[in-house]
Amino acid sequence: TPANLIRNFSIIAHIDHGKSTLADRMLQATGVVQPRDMRAQYLDRMDIERERGITIKSQAVRMPWEVDGQAYSLNMIDTPGHVDFSYEVSRSLAACEGALLLVDAAQGIEAQTLANLYLAMENDMVIIPVLNKIDLPAAQPEKYAEEMANLIGCDPEDCLAVSGKTGQGVPELLDRIVKEIPAPSGQVDAPARAMIFDSVYDTYRGVVTYVRVVDGQLKPRERIQMMSTGALHELLEIGVISPEPNPSKGLGVGEVGYLITGVKDVRQSKVGDTVTGATNPADEALAGYQDPKPMVFSGIYPIDGSDFPNLREALDKLKLNDAALTYEPETSAALGFGFRCGFLGLLHLEIVRERLEREFNLELIATAPSVIYDVTMEDRSVVTVTNPSEFPSGKVKEIREPVVRCTILSPSDYVGQIMELCQDRRGTMHGMDYITPDRVEMHYTLPLAEIVFDFFDQLKSRTRGYASMDYEPEGDQAADLVKVDILLNGDQVDAFSAIVHKDAAYAYGVRMTAKLKELIPRQQFEVPVQAAVGSRVIARETIRALRKDMLAKCYGGDITRKRKLLEKQKEGKKRMKAIGRVEVPQDAFIAALTSD
Ligand code: GTP
Repeated sequence: TPANLIRNFSIIAHIDHGKSTLADRMLQATGVVQPRDMRAQYLDRMDIERERGITIKSQAVRMPWEVDGQAYSLNMIDTPGHVDFSYEVSRSLAACEGALLLVDAAQGIEAQTLANLYLAMENDMVIIPVLNKIDLPAAQPEKYAEEMANLIGCDPEDCLAVSGKTGQGVPELLDRIVKEIPAPSGQVDAPARAMIFDSVYDTYRGVVTYVRVVDGQLKPRERIQMMSTGALHELLEIGVISPEPNPSKGLGVGEVGYLITGVKDVRQSKVGDTVTGATNPADEALAGYQDPKPMVFSGIYPIDGSDFPNLREALDKLKLNDAALTYEPETSAALGFGFRCGFLGLLHLEIVRERLEREFNLELIATAPSVIYDVTMEDRSVVTVTNPSEFPSGKVKEIREPVVRCTILSPSDYVGQIMELCQDRRGTMHGMDYITPDRVEMHYTLPLAEIVFDFFDQLKSRTRGYASMDYEPEGDQAADLVKVDILLNGDQVDAFSAIVHKDAAYAYGVRMTAKLKELIPRQQFEVPVQAAVGSRVIARETIRALRKDMLAKCYGGDITRKRKLLEKQKEGKKRMKAIGRVEVPQDAFIAALTSD
């Protein structure tokens, strides 16, 4: 297709605002999927149902659409939906000239949507405001049209009202995409340059890479080069998805499609990288490439120590599909053999942990998430700390911690509570904008470490679930931080060490010692539980020695109840970890390491 007849767009939307449903209607309206083949969330489900062959998700679909007798090619490019993947979102957007801002007409815009909207606006993309779900009785299109108009600087009348459910407004939407979003421009005769905006591992085909051609042309069987590494590959297959993958004779300026080179690991086909032809390579890569950089670290340990090799194998497999995941073996006196893993953020951590448990059947324990600290010693050497228990012991000159720029969107009633929370978490406020009289957008700089610890839950509970937030890295800052150790019977438990602000050390110590006192069963002897900064003890609790029979609590003759209790104890015994001479049940670790 010549570039002037191509339109590349993505959909910016919050989870549940109806992106998949609207995409379904567009596939149907353009005839890409026949009515008899249609089923809900067509694109999302394709990869699950397909047992063999190429795994296609909704990364990029081509749809034909005619306006005034002229046939156009529309490419819908998917964007991942979460803050942790903002770099990937930025690359998907960079592959487009325009975006639909899709907002649920009964909910209004959310912080996540806002962050991606700003990204699109910074890139000078054309934004088409769309209110979805207008069939809902609770829809308030006028109210939210005004909100959207204020944000993007348009008329409320410019907001298109659609329903992904009934299909209302979908043909008009497709017309507007053609009319308002500019055609891609690029140099047809220049050496090929294509930007990778996604790459997915497929068991049968190896890595499937999604690209947007900027200049020149890519043809099947030619040799290509990845510009960040210089690695050479052969283009085994190149094509477009509509909605099945169709191999083609090549992709030209402005076109979007997939390519397959037979590589086995997404790290060899990195998001943001530029693909060029090996025989006539481009001089300069496209702007904006970044290596994925883990921001949050956690130790992941198998609950059953004999699962360690299985955990390693599972991580090796996950890595094929996840270029941002890092891991290296580590040992903990308390938890045994495991891995220190690096993630883009908390959600990424959750996803990986859940996949490890569900897809690989592993029972795991993850230590409290930590960020990267740069510790400068008195002798000017710098130590990078991702695990609190590895905090250097000598004289420290300065500690730097990562900070993030945080955007919070909330009904204005909760401004006070939010300010209080952010202040508690060492936040600096940068301002507040009212998008409408009752909705406010707040900007803060916060230490990342303060966010990884239950910030989101706190925000939700203080605003009855109405606030939403998003953040992006904003460099680092020096901070007055200390390491707090927890000692059981005088022995340090490495898994419980934490790096906290000096002013919060005491509270952390008191909370942890109290929690552990609750969680650790009594032993044959008295066990002191202490929190210490260096050699100075800042909090202490005592677990008194065991005297009474556990079953004494069960007065009365209910034998089944006693048996249950005994069973439960036996179960608990299996999962005991001995720290020094103290037996600590696995549950105590899990409970102590999860925030409350
Ligand atoms: P994720 O895939 O989780 O990101 O969500 P999504 O944004 O793709 O939303 P999805 O299309 O899955 O829709 C979310 C829910 O809203 C589903 O229960 C849909 O049935 C419903 N829904 C989507 N569009 C409409 C609509 O136009 N009207 C009504 N009434 N419901 C809709």
